[in-house]
Amino acid sequence: MIKNICCIGAGYVGGPTMAIIAQKCPNIKVTVVDLNEERIAAWNDADVSNIPIYEPGLSEIVAESRGRNLFFSTEVDKAIDEAEMIFISVNTPTKTYGVGKGMAADLKYIELCARQIARVAKTNKIVVEKSTLPVRTASAIKDILDHTGNGVKFQILSNPEFLAEGTAVEDLLAPDRVLIGGDSSNEGQQAVQLLVDVYSNWVPKDKILTTNVWSSELSKLTANAFLAQRVSSINAMSELCEKTGADVNEVAKAIGMDSRIGSKFLKSSVGFGGSCFQKDILNLVYIAQSYGLNEVADYWEQVIIMNDHQKRRFAKNIIKTLYNTVSGKKIAFLGWAFKKDTNDTRESAAIYVADYLLSEQAKISVYDPKVNEKQILFDLDYLESRNESDNKSGVSVLENPYKVCENAHAIAVLTEWDEFKTYDWQKIYDSMLKPAFIFDGRNLLNKEKLEKIGFVYQSIGS
Ligand code: UDX
Ligand code: ADP
Repeated sequence: MIKNICCIGAGYVGGPTMAIIAQKCPNIKVTVVDLNEERIAAWNDADVSNIPIYEPGLSEIVAESRGRNLFFSTEVDKAIDEAEMIFISVNTPTKTYGVGKGMAADLKYIELCARQIARVAKTNKIVVEKSTLPVRTASAIKDILDHTGNGVKFQILSNPEFLAEGTAVEDLLAPDRVLIGGDSSNEGQQAVQLLVDVYSNWVPKDKILTTNVWSSELSKLTANAFLAQRVSSINAMSELCEKTGADVNEVAKAIGMDSRIGSKFLKSSVGFGGSCFQKDILNLVYIAQSYGLNEVADYWEQVIIMNDHQKRRFAKNIIKTLYNTVSGKKIAFLGWAFKKDTNDTRESAAIYVADYLLSEQAKISVYDPKVNEKQILFDLDYLESRNESDNKSGVSVLENPYKVCENAHAIAVLTEWDEFKTYDWQKIYDSMLKPAFIFDGRNLLNKEKLEKIGFVYQSIGS
């Protein structure tokens, strides 16, 4: 039985996952470590509503276990030394340099973790890959760990996380499945069983799937590629709907009722974002290319090409509708996060739409219930195409949505936050320049109601 777990990386995956393990396994001591002192301090904040990651229901769960069997710390070495099982939950961004730039996953953080574990470990350890990784990363980790020469034995497991942000707590409490990949040797199977035992504390046995390491690693990439493909497929149809007079919502409903297709993940939008979809598909494309499978690579790359097109198309349509110029015009952004119920903005469509409009000299004013100005400017500054001073002068971020819309030429809805539906839209209309446009990138708002008020309303795909 495992008594002591350490998780390296206190981010969107490591934080929530460990909070649930600690809640469901009160006999296991769980320590989450991170190099980022500010992040750890926020996880330890006396006011639990200040934890660094916003997820519905998460702060209550952290409050329950923190200080009992859940700990957040920057003492990485100490936590590694004490643990029998170490989860690696560090980020694996797309490489921004060198071979595979813009496509391959940058494994430097993973490698640093492996080297640190190798250096510190004095007793046998089970190392669990939690981060999404390219197929065969486990063997690289194993190589590093096995060549330390200090006699410690390591078992490497792959245990990809399938939680979606915004619903992390419910996904972790009742997962569709838990996937654990391990080595077929006796020791490997023993390690798999120890991790199965951890999850069995709350997950039904028939939902815990064990496979070999490579199948587990590739399943995660495949799941994300299939999900993203559905979004790009329906978004491709949205453009055709706009040209033909069909309504993409009606099409989605009609096809979704076919049980072979299913109704989920058919919401047409301004484009998918998030830390996983684009990164994982690029990674898949890169892996396929590196095996010389060019048709396979091109097939999956099209999902990304379609998504980029959808974001650009949304921005171009705003410009075209506003009489072919947005120069000096105020465009109000409702939402910046890549989806509702999260404060995560990685790869959010809002960033790219803003970039496009700013390069046409628009003035952008942003409101998001969970994202602050610092983050929004950081996201824009990060783009190679933009510079800091232009971002500062072109973008304003306010905590009041009504102020954000005041004197705007148009509103763009970028995130499907529920609260947007409850606004006093008459009041917003009265404060805007006329004609007052709404570009609903999430098909969130009520078209009839808004048109009755006087808005010119445009959704995606109709
Ligand atoms: C995804 C996977 O769902 C999850 O299993 C994996 O562990 C990590 O990647 P996440 O990125 O957190 O999760 O959110 P998800 O709900 O998948 O949404 C991704 C993006 O697709 C969002 O921008 C969302 O708005 C968009 N989307 C999703 C659509 O535009 N339409 C849909 O129908 C569904
Ligand atoms: P994810 O969405 O995969 O959880 P995040 O970026 O939210 O990604 O979290 C990853 C965390 O891992 C970050 O907080 C980062 O500081 C941390 N991290 C990266 N490398 C190391 C390392 N070598 N040791 C400890 N923490 C690390």
